[in-house]
Amino acid sequence: MKRIIAVAAVFALGAVAYAQAPSGPPPMPPYMLRTIAPEGDRLLPGRDGKSLFEAQCGYCHLMGGMGTNLLTKQQMIAGNPPQKGLLTNRDDLAADYVKTVVRMGKGAMPQQTKVDITDAELDAVARYLGKAG
Ligand code: HEC
Repeated sequence: MKRIIAVAAVFALGAVAYAQAPSGPPPMPPYMLRTIAPEGDRLLPGRDGKSLFEAQCGYCHLMGGMGTNLLTKQQMIAGNPPQKGLLTNRDDLAADYVKTVVRMGKGAMPQQTKVDITDAELDAVARYLGKAG
């Protein structure tokens, strides 16, 4: 009898634990989610480079992104502080270089087409990142 009660108790506890278990996969960490792209005409020049960068490049180039992780390693090997792994902390990037990397790709970075980011959007992002001119 004791054994039956013990087995029943184990099943009951199991059922409670199962019912309380979260369903589906856990929520994604914030750096894996794409922020919402700014609204408006995508072909219009002079858009907000910061929010376009966060929306179009942020899932790789904000904190925790795979681009940031890889560039942090490269910067540290070159003797620079790890903060330089974030593109927004770099002051050695020229706007034309940013545009070339985005359109051609570089190493582990896949090229971004005009569907991913229009020329007008890329101009704004390159101006935002291109502190070296
Ligand atoms: C799918 C992830 C991903 C996306 C999206 C992405 N990048 Fe990258 N990016 C990388 C990785 C990874 C590297 C490092 C490549 C390497 O050296 O192998 C990189 C490198 C770069 C570099 C070169 C930095 C250097 O030190 O030479 C620039 C500039 C750059 N990205 C700009 C951008 C911009 C601007 C966007 C958005 C339009 C963007 N990236 C979108 C992953 C990404």
